[in-house]
Parts: sequence; C-alpha cells; structure tokens
Amino acid sequence: MKIVTAGNAVDTDSARRELPKASGLVLACKGPEIAGIGTIKRARPKYARTIQERSGISFEPDLLELGYVAVAEAHKGQHLSRRIVEKLLAGCDGDLFATTGSDRMKRTLTHANFVRSGHEWKGKRAMLSLWVLRRKPS
Ligand SMILES: CC(C)(COP(=O)(O)OP(=O)(O)OC[C@H]1O[C@@H](n2cnc3c(N)ncnc32)[C@H](O)[C@@H]1OP(=O)(O)O)[C@@H](O)C(=O)NCCC(=O)NCCS
Repeated sequence: MKIVTAGNAVDTDSARRELPKASGLVLACKGPEIAGIGTIKRARPKYARTIQERSGISFEPDLLELGYVAVAEAHKGQHLSRRIVEKLLAGCDGDLFATTGSDRMKRTLTHANFVRSGHEWKGKRAMLSLWVLRRKPS
C-alpha cells in the first residue's frame, strides 16, 4: 500500500478499497523488501463506462484493468515495472486496459504491446490516457 500511494499516481481511498479485491497481484521482492507491485483489478463496469466516456473509446464494460503498478524509490530505473507487467500478463489470458498519466508507465505499457487509444482527459494529478491490450484472435 505504501509503495502504491508513494508514487502519488492513484487515489489513496480507492487503492485501499480495491487492492484487496484485485483478481491478480504480483509482488517483486528484493530480499525481505517489497520492491514493486502490480495488479489486475476486478471488473468494474461502471468505472469502465466512465473511462469510455472520457477517452471516447468504446470497449467491453467487463474488460479487466491492469493497474496499481508501482516501484519503490530505491529500485526505480531497472525496468522492474516491465517484469511485473510481464508476470501479470502471464497469469491471465484475456484483453486488458490501463490508464496512466506517467511517462515511465507509458513506456512500460508500450513495451508490453498496449496501444494508446482515444483522447487524453484531465485527471486529479495529470492528463490521463487509455491503453488497451488485445490478445484474443479477432
Ligand atoms: C511507473 C513506474 C512503476 C516505473 O518504474 P520502473 O520500472 O522503475 O521504471 P523504468 O526502470 O522502466 O524506468 C523508466 C525510464 O526512466 C529512466 N530513469 C532514470 N532515472 C530513473 C530513476 N531514478 N527512477 C526511475 N526511472 C529512471 C529509466 O532509465 C528508464 O528509461 P529508459 O526506458 O530509456 O531505459 C515508477 O516510475 C513508479 O512507481 N511511478 C509511480 C507510480 C505510477 O505512476 N504508476 C503507474 C500508475 S498506472
């Protein structure tokens, strides 16, 4: 929880509420220390509809979201988020979306083949954008 809120990229109350309900969780440990975290959040159709409206992109309301990816200050800059995202993707096989305002996270998502979709919108802390990963054969 400390790592997630330290990045100042998420709403603390919603992180406290949503983290225990996540459908997937990856922790990166360095010795006894938690160096990074990432989750696949539970489906939240109402929230998904809000993101559709804000981005102008329509997607399935039960699409799962990859989020709460954060690396502790002492371990940043080693692409740990890429490894966390790879592990999360290996643990689920459907399509996913993510939203972020972090340039570093955008690079991590691009590396994992997420595609930026629609237009940006103003979040509480930064301009946010929608990123979608399609893995099912069409
Ligand atoms: C986004 C985040 C998880 C990425 O962490 P990370 O895996 O350590 O980042 P990376 O190692 O991929 O670093 C990204 C780039 O910044 C560079 N960098 C340089 N100095 C750095 C430093 N002190 N810390 C982090 N990155 C640094 C890296 O070299 C890298 O550049 P490159 O892609 O050209 O090689 C991390 O910045 C974070 O926890 N941010 C706050 C929370 C957040 O915004 N999460 C996203 C919410 S969806």
